[in-house]
Amino acid sequence: MPKISAADPASRIYCAIDTPDVARAADLATRLAGTVGGIKLGLEFFSAQGPDGVARVQAAAPGTDLFLDLKYHDIPNTVAAAMRAAAALGPRIVNVHATGGKAMMAAARDAAGEGAAAVGKTPPLVIAVTVLTSLDTDDIERMGVIGGVEEQVVRLATLAREAGLDGVVCSAREIVPIRRALGPDFILVTPGIRPAGSDAGDQKRVMTPTEAMAAGADYLVIGRPITGGADPAAAARAIAAAIHGSARG
Ligand code: C5P
Repeated sequence: MPKISAADPASRIYCAIDTPDVARAADLATRLAGTVGGIKLGLEFFSAQGPDGVARVQAAAPGTDLFLDLKYHDIPNTVAAAMRAAAALGPRIVNVHATGGKAMMAAARDAAGEGAAAVGKTPPLVIAVTVLTSLDTDDIERMGVIGGVEEQVVRLATLAREAGLDGVVCSAREIVPIRRALGPDFILVTPGIRPAGSDAGDQKRVMTPTEAMAAGADYLVIGRPITGGADPAAAARAIAAAIHGSARG
């Protein structure tokens, strides 16, 4: 379990760097160093730049944690092999889709430990995506999931915990029901964060940074509200200042 410092609100922020351009990603990582706890590289960057690109961004911001957001979802054997390779890159957090099932999640967890150990690194936290924050109840009903987003998120979070994962990705709106079901020692990482007045874009289940921290989030994933402006470091600092004091202890 990581030590989360309530005294350092910046440590709670992972900035999503969503670009296919390695120079832009490295520049953002450098500019954000010290203003956020970590950066998140996902499918857009990894598909374009691969492991070498990840290493270049890590080198541009030494000491900044990495959330490698590759959201694996395949059969357990394939996910395990992919996770072994991903964990060798030294991320602090990796993830899979909970809808891949319990066996797939458990295989991912084991493989992450193996991949990190093979290169002498600390095993990453392995977390599961529950329901993407771009989906609402109507969207998941069209996929045959009846009962609403909240029920589905709690169901998948419970499965992730049974598989031995460290936590889940969820919208801030589901923090309270997940905490009620699973207690305080399960890491909740929340995207879909929008400071008051900023554009929601494609996100449907949003909350402000302060609301999300007060609800009990451990980490906030924030992309465009930080990276979309002229001064990303200033935007990150403003969000850290806003959440100061609203984190659970
Ligand atoms: O720019 P924005 O703040 O919307 O970025 C959110 C980031 O979080 C994106 O990189 C997106 O891929 C990721 N994410 C998400 N919803 C999830 C899981 C990850 O928006 N359920």
